Formats: sequence, C-alpha cells, structure tokens
Amino acid sequence: MRSVRTATAALAVAALSLPLLAAAPHSEARHDRLRAAAPEGFFVGTAVAGGGHHLSQPYPDPFTSDKQYRKILARQFGSVSPENQMKWDFIHPERDRYDFAAADAIVAFAERNRQVVRGHTLLWHSQNPEWLEQGNFSKEQLRAILREHITTVVGRYAGRIQQWDVANEIFDDQGRLRTQDNIWIRELGPGVVADAFRWAHAADPRAKLFFNDYNVEGVNAKSNAYHTLVQDLLRQGVPVHGFSVQAHLSTRYGFPGDLESNLRRFDALGLETAVTELDVRMDVPEGGVPTAEQERTQAEYYRRTLAACLAVDGCDSFTIWGFTDKYSWVPVFFEGEGFANVMTDEFERKPAFYALLDTLKAARGR
Ligand code: XIL
Repeated sequence: MRSVRTATAALAVAALSLPLLAAAPHSEARHDRLRAAAPEGFFVGTAVAGGGHHLSQPYPDPFTSDKQYRKILARQFGSVSPENQMKWDFIHPERDRYDFAAADAIVAFAERNRQVVRGHTLLWHSQNPEWLEQGNFSKEQLRAILREHITTVVGRYAGRIQQWDVANEIFDDQGRLRTQDNIWIRELGPGVVADAFRWAHAADPRAKLFFNDYNVEGVNAKSNAYHTLVQDLLRQGVPVHGFSVQAHLSTRYGFPGDLESNLRRFDALGLETAVTELDVRMDVPEGGVPTAEQERTQAEYYRRTLAACLAVDGCDSFTIWGFTDKYSWVPVFFEGEGFANVMTDEFERKPAFYALLDTLKAARGR
C-alpha cells in the first residue's frame, strides 16, 4: 500500500475547522466499515457467495436471496469477487451457450455500490464443464475454444474488472506445472499460459492480469516456480501484471511469517500483488463452539495477513473468501474444520473482524 500521508494530513486540518456534528457521519462510517477504514486506494473485498458448493446446501442462492447478506456486502466492501459465477462450469455450461446472468448481476451490484470487481478465473484445472473435459477435442479445437472463451468473457466486462485471475493454480505444491490435471497445459503445452494472458489483455487492456494460487503465501517450491515463470514471461513481453496469494489458512499450521517478504520479491519484479481468498479455518471443537482462544488466534492470522499486504507498496487489493460462516466452503471441503470467516452464521462480528478494522484504521492514520 502506497502512503497517502499528505492527503490524510490535509483532511485532518480540514476536519478541525468543521463543527463536530458535520464531521460525525463520516467518522461514524469509518468507525464501523472496512471499506471506509481502508487507506485511500486500498481495496478490501469479499467473495460473493453463489454457485459451487452452495448449490448442494439447504439454502437459496445467497447473493440474490439473503437481504441481510447483501446489505453487509454493500456496506463493508470496496471490492467483490464472484466465488463461482465466472468459472467455466458456471458461465459456459454448454459449448455454444454462455450464462452471464449471475456474473452480470454481480458486476451491476458492484457498480451501484461503487465497488471494483476481481474476475475469477480463466485458465484452471478445476470446475470445468463436462463438455470440455470429456469432449475429445483436437489441439486446434481446444485452442480455439479457450481463445473464444477468454475473448468473450473478458470482453463482455471490459473496463469493469480491476483485476483478472487469468491463470489459477497452475503449479502443484512441488512447483511442477500441472501437466496432467490441467487440460490446457496437458493438451496444448505450457505456452498456452502466455497465450491466455495475451488474449485477456487484447480483450481488456485496462484489467490487471494475475497469477493466483494457494500455498504460495511463503517462500517455497511453489512460489519459487511462479517467481521464475513470471520473470521468464516478462522477458518475453507477456502482459502479466500481478501475483496473488489466495491465503486459505488454517490454525493447524503456523502463520506463514515470510508472507511480506514473499510479496516483496514479486513487487520487486514490477508486479502488483494481492491477497485474494483469505479465510482462516480452525478445528471444530467439542460442543461445536470456538473457544475465545481459537478466535484470538484466528484474529491474529487475519491481522498479520492484512498487515503484510498493507506493508507492500503494490499490494492494494485484499479479499476475504466470504465474510460469514453461514456460507463458508470450509466445512464442505475440510472435514472437521470450520468457523473460518470474520462473522458468525448470524452475522455477528468476531474478533477477526475487529482485527481487520483496527489494522485498516491504523494504516490509514499512518
Ligand atoms: C471454491 C468455492 O468457494 C466453492 O464454492 C466451490 O465449490 C469450490 O471452489 N481456490 C480457488 C477458489 O481459486 O475458486 C475456490 O473456491 C477455493 C480454492
């Protein structure tokens, strides 16, 4: 996050000359909203719940049906990411048919509420439709399919997406390219990754184009693989603009203390960085209610992740993967773990929420 000290100082002087009452609504908003507490130019975001695991849960589509959810979504966040609604299986359900309704609704909601949007995602090994994975297409056909998809989806929202996760999770934890489970890399070779960035850039020259992955918060084999690949692509003039860490963290493991230095080494390559999917899961304790100690530890993970991003110049986008435990993917994907978000099922704020709010306020005041 770049410093906005001068602007803040000027505002402080202006505030002194205003009567107390006039200043109150503003400070009240700041007092209670993540988006208002954030330093100028720093975007605090959330995933917008819908699609994916939600489809098999006993509740209607959260984004379109839950009024309280929508209200908090608009009030608290300056950035939104469709959790599933722009993924291949959702947006491109048949070869000759796209379904833009949900993605359109999210982008329109964001504009009404003066939020930016992170697009997610274009080239991935997961959540691809059957027609694609089982289609037995030739190389030429697959290339044309990918190019058309990227051109269509990125083009549709051109100028309205701040950052696109162009390539998602292309390396395994050992830092090897996913040459087996990623259909694009398997069938078309690693060069297709550069092409995906080129096609996305042609469709929306204003969007910042990212690599995004999990388990790359610290310096390790996987983040090293990205560091090497990005340098290679930049040398070739490929339009890569950012590297982002998902940050699906668990209190089972220690906090990745080298997060900040890892972000810095990508920053040093001239890339933007971002935190895109932060949640902090914990073991569901006996009785099913997290202890105060568990919530404190969780809050600390949230605080440290945000602080690392705030400390790095080009890290201006910080997204949590949903804000309420009510709609979390965690209990569905990680047996015995849960309570990963900053609000309870009932939208009560947990210590993690206040950890974010206080850290933002402190950064804004710096
Ligand atoms: C998850 C969604 O939260 C679920 O609803 C869905 O069922 C599976 O995917 N990395 C990513 C995200 O890039 O897209 C994933 O989202 C979580 C891991």
